[in-house]
Parts: sequence; structure tokens; C-alpha cells
Amino acid sequence: MRGRVVVAAAMLALAGPLLLAPSLAAGPGDPVVAARQASMKEMAAAARAIAGMFDGKRAYEPSAFKAAADTLSARAAALTDEFPIGTLGAPSAARPEIDDARPEFEALARHIGRLADALADKAGNAPPGITADMRMTGLPMDGGSLLGKRPGATEADPAKMPAEHLLHLILQDCTSCHSKFRQKVE
Ligand code: HEC
Repeated sequence: MRGRVVVAAAMLALAGPLLLAPSLAAGPGDPVVAARQASMKEMAAAARAIAGMFDGKRAYEPSAFKAAADTLSARAAALTDEFPIGTLGAPSAARPEIDDARPEFEALARHIGRLADALADKAGNAPPGITADMRMTGLPMDGGSLLGKRPGATEADPAKMPAEHLLHLILQDCTSCHSKFRQKVE
């Protein structure tokens, strides 16, 4: 009799969490969160590598440029699926609001994806040295404002933009998404 009560209590304890409403948040050490954070770090390293080549802080190498641009493009393409419900909010730095704003989040992901694809295309035909037509002339076409940029409200054809300009627009998309959908944790 006592044994049965104990078993029943154990079953209830197991079933308990499943009976509650599904939570937005992931537990600590969630592999989905770890994977997307690693993916973000790869994007950051790739963007830094390309920026360094254009700024002259790193040797320009067409193959390294192409590899980094391919990484940006692949990581950007994966973005949309990396934030499923159940993995948002602390301890992750992904804001729970992502789930209320999927269309906006996905538009940002598509926007950066389009730019990164265009950059990867250009990097595939990159000349042995940086040429003037790869350089951004003057300010970015939107005046350089990081705020108030709307994905979708674009702009010229990315294929016609200089590589350096594409990189700057990509970096603006990182910032736009982070300011809206990333939070500080701890
Ligand atoms: C569509 C939205 C979005 C875009 C675009 C985006 N990020 Fe993020 N990024 C996030 C969110 C949300 C997090 C928090 C992820 C988490 O902690 O679960 C994050 C986290 C990061 C982190 C921290 C990763 C860690 O170790 O915790 C880095 C670095 C980063 N992003 C770099 C970039 C760079 C560089 C770009 C552009 C090339 C970029 N991100 C584009 C949404 C975005």
C-alpha cells in the first residue's frame, strides 16, 4: 500500500511539468541555445575577418574573403529556425518577444540573408587585390543611420552594391536585430 502511494507520487512528480503550460524559456545548457550562440560567434568572427581585410588590419586573401562570406551566408540562412519556442528568455539572451514578433524577426533574418548571399557571390569572383569598385563610396546609401532602418523598405539591388557597402549593411542588420531582440542576461 505504502509502496503504491510512493509510486503514484513519483508518477505525479514526473507528469507535473508536462501538465503545466509550455514555457517559453529553455533550461540552462539547452543545446539549441548553445548551438545558436556558437552560430552567432561564427558570424561575428566572419564579419570581423572581412571588416579587417577592408580596413587593412588583416591581409586580404580572396579565398579567406570567400570563406568568411560563405560562413555569413550559411549562418544567416539558418537564423530563422534557431529560435524555436521553448528556448527564449533567460538564461538565453534571446528576448521572449521574438515569439510575438515572428514576421519582423524573420524579415530581419531574410534581409541579412539576402545581403550575405550577395556578398558571398561577389567574394566568389573576388580579384587578387581589393579594387576601387569593391569600396564603399562615401556614406552608406541610407546615410549611415543605424536606427530607423526597416528590412523590406529597401533599397537598391544588393548585387549592384560594392562589397564593403554590403558588409556595412550586414553589420547594421546585426545591430537592428540585437537592439530589438537581444537582452542582457545575468
Ligand atoms: C534576426 C536577429 C539577429 C541577427 C540578424 C543577428 N543576431 Fe546575433 N543574436 C541574436 C539574438 C536573439 C542573440 C541572443 C542568442 C541567445 O543568447 O540565445 C544573439 C547573440 C549574438 C552573439 C552572442 C553569442 C553568445 O555567445 O552568447 C553574438 C556574438 C552575435 N549575436 C553576433 C551577431 C553578428 C555579428 C550578426 C551579424 C553578422 C548577428 N549577430 C546577427 C539575434 C540576431
